[in-house]
Amino acid sequence: MPLETAPDPNHPTADGPTADEVIVTSELCKIYEMGDQQVNALCGVDLRVRHNEYVAIMGPSGSGKTTLMNLIGCLDSPTRGRYWLNGHDVSRLNDDELARIRNKEIGFVFQTFNLLSRATALHNVELPLIYNGTPSEERIVRAKEVLESVQLGSRMTHKPNELSGGQRQRVAIARALVNRPSIILADEPTGNLDSKTGDEIMALFDDLHAQGNTILIVTHEPEIAEYAQRIVTIHDGAIASDRPSRRHAAGGSKADPHRRPISP
Ligand SMILES: Nc1ncnc2c1ncn2[C@@H]1O[C@H](COP(=O)(O)OP(=O)(O)OP(=O)(O)O)[C@@H](O)[C@H]1O
Ligand SMILES: [Mg+2]
Repeated sequence: MPLETAPDPNHPTADGPTADEVIVTSELCKIYEMGDQQVNALCGVDLRVRHNEYVAIMGPSGSGKTTLMNLIGCLDSPTRGRYWLNGHDVSRLNDDELARIRNKEIGFVFQTFNLLSRATALHNVELPLIYNGTPSEERIVRAKEVLESVQLGSRMTHKPNELSGGQRQRVAIARALVNRPSIILADEPTGNLDSKTGDEIMALFDDLHAQGNTILIVTHEPEIAEYAQRIVTIHDGAIASDRPSRRHAAGGSKADPHRRPISP
């Protein structure tokens, strides 16, 4: 993966992260080349996220939200600008180090779940552990443990088409968590779910936040964004606003303290 995050000569003194900042971008840009056309998907994004912050990213379709998540998750590299992940200047890492830091530090959840359709829930959750060479006995123990933590202990042998939408997303969340990442990135995790199931998934993110994880979630829905502490809005590839959520400003929690446990 080519990395082109050399210091921008126009901004040689870009601020690096402070000790409690896990994501810091400076003047981050992404230009997609399409034949002789250029698409400016992101331009000049400065974003700073502290350890254990919970951030929602909103914005119209095509504004650059997924592009930003892919850069933050080291799934893609920026055209210009700099990025520090957990204090590491990503531009200074080689491909192996990048893959290692991605697997260790980041868990991804996607709108379309991205599960292997022919594999059981258990096997889907085991996959990241297979990629990093975890021995099979430990893999099974850890995959079962994390599936139980999302209330799917009784559905481990089900394949994705034998699960409801909310259960599929919980398998995907379990897969994102199995490597015990500190940062969870979720791109419209409730986009394919009804609102009740979406609220159950958001309650899980609340739990993960309470356990100390840093969470970034992309959503189109203002009610979903209110689960976060902070709402960053993107327009035309740039940050248009960055404010505390109403929930956070009010010092409260959107999660219902009396909510029923999720049924399997
Ligand atoms: N691989 C690509 N090649 C070329 N252009 C791309 C590519 N991926 C995204 N784009 C363009 O970059 C811009 C930002 O896309 P992005 O997927 O980040 O938007 P988004 O905010 O996530 O939108 P949505 O809400 O619809 O998911 C869009 O104009 C899109 O057409
Ligand atoms: Mg998107």
